[in-house]
Amino acid sequence: MPGRFSGKVAIITGSSFGIGRETAVLFAKEGAKVTVTGRSEERLQGTKKALLDAKVPESNFIIVPADITTPSGQDNLISNTLERFGKIDILVNNAGASIPDSQKRTGVKQGIETYEKVMRLNVQSVIEMTQKVRPHLAKTKGDIVNVSSIVALKAGWAHAPYYPLAKAALDQYTRSAAIDLIHEGIRVNTVNPGIVETGFHGQATGLSEDASKKFYDDMGSNRNAIPCGFSGRPDHIAKAIAFLADRDTSEYIVGQNIIADGGTSLVLGIHTQFPRQTEKL
Ligand SMILES: NC(=O)c1ccc[n+]([C@@H]2O[C@H](COP(=O)([O-])OP(=O)(O)OC[C@H]3O[C@@H](n4cnc5c(N)ncnc54)[C@H](OP(=O)(O)O)[C@@H]3O)[C@@H](O)[C@H]2O)c1
Repeated sequence: MPGRFSGKVAIITGSSFGIGRETAVLFAKEGAKVTVTGRSEERLQGTKKALLDAKVPESNFIIVPADITTPSGQDNLISNTLERFGKIDILVNNAGASIPDSQKRTGVKQGIETYEKVMRLNVQSVIEMTQKVRPHLAKTKGDIVNVSSIVALKAGWAHAPYYPLAKAALDQYTRSAAIDLIHEGIRVNTVNPGIVETGFHGQATGLSEDASKKFYDDMGSNRNAIPCGFSGRPDHIAKAIAFLADRDTSEYIVGQNIIADGGTSLVLGIHTQFPRQTEKL
């Protein structure tokens, strides 16, 4: 399909749902060949439907079920992409989550095994994917966009402390990787979303679909939490990712963050109490 990513090949992790799905559809609509991935077959079928509904030809995407935290999952993703499309131009490290503690502990009582799981998904898998995709991106002078969060910034999250810790580490890794890899022509940048309507908060806090919807509506109607007056949609974040993945729009941006949060980070910690609000729902 013609568009700004015409001729480009993109791997988008965590594209079976939410922000990643929307990014896969946007990139494919704008001409990219995309590798869609995630663990859930059912969710992956949902992304396939979204791509077909957007009139993306089946020859322009592949679906590779994979757990991004496993070396075999990462290797499958890369080898399937190369086999089908012959190169890699863009890596979007989007898969991520705040993983609840298996014993339902919150705050600093959360176990070290929870810490390890959260770090493995949000940080280690990004490091491993960066290392493995690097030689291919060096050939194409490609781009990496990492998906972080506003919780990586100054405010903490009392309910689940390892997630902000992981995203802050991801931001710092992005900076170091960016000034290293730009010597090979590879750009690395980050998008830090605020509150976005996806499966994220339900997964992180155990809220039902209805309670999640109420959370997003309540937050969105509270200008003290989201100054622009509405919760983010996945397409808001997908557009910021596309901006950073596109050399035409962002060639001179290296190792930086785009904060896409409707202004929440400006008031975060004063008016926005994620844990308390979700506990009350
Ligand atoms: N929504 C927000 O408010 C918000 C705010 C700030 C940052 N973020 C960040 O945005 C990114 C996307 O999240 P989202 O909001 O779109 O959440 P989401 O709707 O829960 O989607 C998360 C995606 O990550 C995938 N994933 C999770 N663990 C995985 C694993 N071990 N292996 C492979 N894939 C895995 C999921 O796929 P499967 O379930 O199929 O494995 C799914 O496709 C994450 O990095 C998140 O931290 C979200």
